[in-house]
Amino acid sequence: MSLLIAKELNEKLSATPSLTALFDFLLEQNLGNITFSTSLGQEDQVITHHIATQKLPIEIFTLDTGRLFQETYDVLDVTQRKFKTRINVFAPNSNSIEDLVTSKGPNSFYESVDNRKECCNIRKIEPLKRALANQSVWITGLRQSQSQNRSDLDFFSYDASFGILKFNPLLHWSLEDVTEYLDTHNVPQNKLHNKGYVSIGCAPCTRAIEPGEDIRAGRWWWETSKKECGLHTIKS
Ligand code: ADX
Ligand code: SF4
Repeated sequence: MSLLIAKELNEKLSATPSLTALFDFLLEQNLGNITFSTSLGQEDQVITHHIATQKLPIEIFTLDTGRLFQETYDVLDVTQRKFKTRINVFAPNSNSIEDLVTSKGPNSFYESVDNRKECCNIRKIEPLKRALANQSVWITGLRQSQSQNRSDLDFFSYDASFGILKFNPLLHWSLEDVTEYLDTHNVPQNKLHNKGYVSIGCAPCTRAIEPGEDIRAGRWWWETSKKECGLHTIKS
């Protein structure tokens, strides 16, 4: 059903509309509750700025894994203050964290892909499920040029893992488009971006990249398999 809805909505959006036109279109569809997930990364700061300044009826949430960089918490803090907007925080289940860290230690994710996925499941996927409960549309900052996996995404896609319609308004933006928007509108950005970090996730699982390296090379850098954590594994 939602797969069909996604297809129909995409067909109505064959051109490349502006951000304002895209959000107008989304809201005109009366699809139900709409929520936006922000990692506080550059793409997400564009969307937060748009939602906050246009006062759109869209809730914003972030997944605080408990292992984020201090610089990321600083972005969360300054963004809420500057735009006077609420960002709902979803944290991992404390019993699950206690069990994981007690049984496997604080750094188990470096030992195997299974361990890494276990940590991502506890710290990201389970809280994400709670954040998406009772929601009809999930907005993300995914861009096609971020990775091979994301190259065939559409504005609307059906996420079979979470059973929800996803909306990806920055689909066709380049990284340069993103940084230009942030600079033009004076939007707070993570200080780590000036130190070689592009795609930023949890602190122990993110490193800076060298010039010329893939923009996701710094995520789970010790793994050779595809660099996704389970938030966005399903293609549109
Ligand atoms: S990830 O799957 O590799 O972690 P990435 O960092 O590229 O994802 O971010 C893609 C989109 O996933 C973001 O635009 C945002 O919508 C969502 N996202 C990623 N991490 C978080 C987070 N910690 N909290 C909320 N949303 C997130
Ligand atoms: Fe755990 Fe690393 Fe996944 Fe964060 S990115 S949830 S620290 S494995």
